Amino acid sequence: MRITVEQGDITRVQTDAICLGIFQGVQRPGGAAGAVDKALGGALSEILTDGDFLCKKGEVFWLRTHGKIAAKRVLLVGLGPAEKFSADVVREISAAAARAAKNLSELTTIAHGAGIGGLEPHTAAQATVEGTLLGLYRFEKFKKPEEPIKLERLRIIEHSAEKLEQLKLGAQRGQIIAESVCFARDLANEPGQSLTPRELARRAQEFAQDLGLRCEVFDENALERLGMGGILSVGKGSNEPPRFIVLEYNLTKNSRPIVLVGKGITFDSGGISIKPREGMEAMKYDMSGAAAVIGTMRAIALLKLPISAVGLIAAAENLPSGKALKPGDVIKISNNKTVEVTNTDAEGRLVLADALVYAQRYNPQAVIDLATLTGACTIALGKEAAGLFSNDETLAQKIQRAAQQSGERVWPLPIYDEYKELIKSEIADIKNSTNKGPQAGAAIGAIFLQEFVSYPWAHLDIAGVAYDVESRLYHAKGATGYGVRLLVELLQSWQ
Ligand code: BES
Ligand code: MN
Ligand code: ZN
Repeated sequence: MRITVEQGDITRVQTDAICLGIFQGVQRPGGAAGAVDKALGGALSEILTDGDFLCKKGEVFWLRTHGKIAAKRVLLVGLGPAEKFSADVVREISAAAARAAKNLSELTTIAHGAGIGGLEPHTAAQATVEGTLLGLYRFEKFKKPEEPIKLERLRIIEHSAEKLEQLKLGAQRGQIIAESVCFARDLANEPGQSLTPRELARRAQEFAQDLGLRCEVFDENALERLGMGGILSVGKGSNEPPRFIVLEYNLTKNSRPIVLVGKGITFDSGGISIKPREGMEAMKYDMSGAAAVIGTMRAIALLKLPISAVGLIAAAENLPSGKALKPGDVIKISNNKTVEVTNTDAEGRLVLADALVYAQRYNPQAVIDLATLTGACTIALGKEAAGLFSNDETLAQKIQRAAQQSGERVWPLPIYDEYKELIKSEIADIKNSTNKGPQAGAAIGAIFLQEFVSYPWAHLDIAGVAYDVESRLYHAKGATGYGVRLLVELLQSWQ
């Protein structure tokens, strides 16, 4: 989509439609909407006073202007109650507006929230653009859309010259971030059939080349040499070989990067500890952590952020076969720790263990892993927040701040030492799941991972938030691309 920021008078722009946001309870709009209301002879006030339009969050209302202003139509969009307003509301209502305008070729809008909303101009523009692009996203690889999207241009209009530069910066940033989220969504939405570990590696290499990132892919021979028994064991039941993918951005000799680690299980059947059939198709999303890491690396490269970052992806397909890992087997992770695999469906922690060990060689400032790790995390937090586990309070706070800014929520969960008891093994250093019944499932995943880290670290369990989150208007069915916005915000404000 072509996105521009222009200085001008809202009543004078010649355009298919002009979009205005209105808070719930407002009867006489001010600001840009006030100017339009006046030019239309009080038509907006009338609609609001009569209760034709209630301004609920994301509600839309179309008006014809009959030549009273230069725009052909006005698209009113409800902002909901003023006390609940935030940048994330801007994303939601921008998505609703864009969907309502999908049959027009262009939509002109104000940067929602930059005026009476009280947001910084760049935040408002960024959120308006993100919401627009995320709201229009659809996964169209295998289906011709019934109603194609015609909207190809978004014009952000602003009266005052002072805000213009900030708005432009925010809009540009928003476009890069949203397109990177959509890139991640596309990867996660693709079936396991075509998005295999090898194909994921190929896609990573392809985009890395386009953006000038260094990308290295380790095949099964290299994995053997590195002793990555976690990744190899999980992958060995499948005909599709596993891969370990390394992406490096702006790495110099002495830099201490931030390392992002993604779980890249391209399909998780559970292996020999096979899952029930109901809903198993959703396990194509089990590489959503990897998708988020790839999307983030794309965004930070395009944004040219002044930091060093590394993306590590542990990719494998978890299937049962005559060659598959079996419950009871003992494997060795690349730091020589042995793991008794009591459940082959707890495979994410096995592949991540090797990646977390590998991260150490960068002497990282911090390592953050993202993984659709446990169903238990969804039981705990539902689909509204990722579980946040960390061994470093400062890092955890940075992530919580970035979550607030980006609207991608996290909620802290504990990693008590006492949980270690639950993964003690009689015959190996640790085991990968507990036999003490259903308890602290998400935390046990984190406790297991912690055995392989030796730096400030955070683990985000994104099982609940990675797909089918219906509560946000800028989500479509399927992958959410969760993590890209959060991580970009974190890396952008890093110091
Ligand atoms: N990929 C799953 C977790 C998952 C479940 C993600 C549902 C999204 C939706 C993971 O590999 C898994 O199977 N975890 C097990 C762990 C258990 C065996 C200790 C789980 O959650 O049941
Ligand atoms: Mn599993
Ligand atoms: Zn899994």
